[in-house]
Amino acid sequence: MLDKNYTNELTKRRTFAIISHPDAGKTTITEKMLLLGKAIHISGVIKGRGNQNYAKSDWMNIEKKRGISVTTSVMQFTYKNILINLLDTPGHQDFSEDTYRILTAVDCCLVVIDAAKGIEERTKKLIEVTRVNNTPIITFINKLDRDSRDPISLLDEIENELKINCIPITWPISCGKDFQGVYHIYEKIIYFYKNKFSKNKSYFLKNFIDFSNVPVLKKTLGLDICKHIYKELELIIYIYAKYNHKKFLQAIDTPIFFGSALGEFGIDHILNALINWAPYPIYRKSNKRFIYPQEKKFTGFVFKIQANMDLKHRDRMAFMRIVSGKYKKGIKLKHIRINKYITISDAFSFLAGERISIQEAYPGDIIGLHNHGTIKIGDTFTEGEDIKFIDMPIFAPEIFRQIYLINPLKQKQLKKGLIELSEEGTIQVFRSILNNDCIVGAIGILQFDVVIERLKVEYNIDAIYKKVNIVLARWINCKNHYSINEFKKKYNSYLAYDTNNYLIYLAPSVANLNIVMNQHNDIIFDKVRK
Ligand code: G4P
Repeated sequence: MLDKNYTNELTKRRTFAIISHPDAGKTTITEKMLLLGKAIHISGVIKGRGNQNYAKSDWMNIEKKRGISVTTSVMQFTYKNILINLLDTPGHQDFSEDTYRILTAVDCCLVVIDAAKGIEERTKKLIEVTRVNNTPIITFINKLDRDSRDPISLLDEIENELKINCIPITWPISCGKDFQGVYHIYEKIIYFYKNKFSKNKSYFLKNFIDFSNVPVLKKTLGLDICKHIYKELELIIYIYAKYNHKKFLQAIDTPIFFGSALGEFGIDHILNALINWAPYPIYRKSNKRFIYPQEKKFTGFVFKIQANMDLKHRDRMAFMRIVSGKYKKGIKLKHIRINKYITISDAFSFLAGERISIQEAYPGDIIGLHNHGTIKIGDTFTEGEDIKFIDMPIFAPEIFRQIYLINPLKQKQLKKGLIELSEEGTIQVFRSILNNDCIVGAIGILQFDVVIERLKVEYNIDAIYKKVNIVLARWINCKNHYSINEFKKKYNSYLAYDTNNYLIYLAPSVANLNIVMNQHNDIIFDKVRK
């Protein structure tokens, strides 16, 4: 039997990530959420873009120079007695594979869409990743205080592009300079954006009747808007399905909210949805069985390694998602991959870069462990049971460079540096089987600069890149040894090994890959390595 305290701790946790295209408003929303959760008291702490409070969440020099958040941070705050773990994902287009992997550590995602732009490329890609685990999605359409696209056409686009049903929970009343607020379909309340005419911040409409028949609304919103919004609402209540909790949890439906992060409007609606609807910590798959958060024994997996969080200490931090049981300072855990017990004398939680030593933590929490090179992404820790969490995918990089040294005598250091950097999971390193050329693969282009800078600062190596003719990578899998050997002979100039000795095909074009795939039906070309 679980004690009441443990069950309480479990049910009061929500772990989620915000995903969006750069500039849609993710940072602003994070900040407003932290303000509402009273975790911070002033704006501008999260990412100041040139302001004094600059970038507590931006740890690396390169981030500071460019004013963007390259690495992923974890924040914990409380809202209405619910403990929220918010995993920040780099939104800039120079993000990394890390961003994809972090989505395996959350139980829910908030998708932020710019109301003027609709679905953008980065959002689409990230949503595809959430599909791997059918992570539930809440959608926030932001920047209604600016001229926006027609909301129905935005929802059409979300349904078509993201393959998910939209369930409007709130609905905007105009936009841009005429933005009046939203109507909350389920609460039957109009929330006013900046109400110039009345002191009320909201108006409860007991029965859904023509707004222009309600004198206070007619006065506040104006006759034209009243008539228009009433007609529009009649239509959307008719065409869109009702919120269905099961379908939300299965990621078949996404509840839709509208607002303005900058105007601090609508953020409480999303937070309420998160605490009321998002699942509390859910089970994870291991190679032997499902592991449930209600289990007493501790288990967890590492989904991220981050270096340079504290330049004074030059340390690396391993981020672990707790799946079951309770972390207590001094707990003895088995590091399954190396088959060794270690005592965890210190673990950390985070708030925008500030680390706090913790005494205890529960499923859903993300804890940081000091890593002196023994912990790798995907590692499982338990109190003894020999299991390994699965579904920690490695995604094929999307851009490639050949890296070489200015001083060729430092090959050994280069190898060490690249292996260590690739263990953090933001880049991947391949060795060509034909000539041993060293290829670096990444998902966002900025990672190439990060690698050069870190090789210089941390390993004292000057390296440069050469462009290579590679546009796609696919891991090669085949049970037939004869076929694979023949394949290796035929395509040796396109093949390489990754740092774990998996064979990968580096294609010079999509057409090339398609032709090769068609000619070799017995070989599997994998986009994701599990
Ligand atoms: P990101 O993390 O998704 O990249 O977006 P971020 O929050 O940094 O927002 C991008 C820009 O959009 C910022 O303006 C921000 O102030 C603005 N913004 C965010 N939400 C809203 C909103 O609801 N309404 C309006 N009108 N603007 C919004 P910036 O000028 O690029 O930066 P800053 O100087 O304001 O920091």
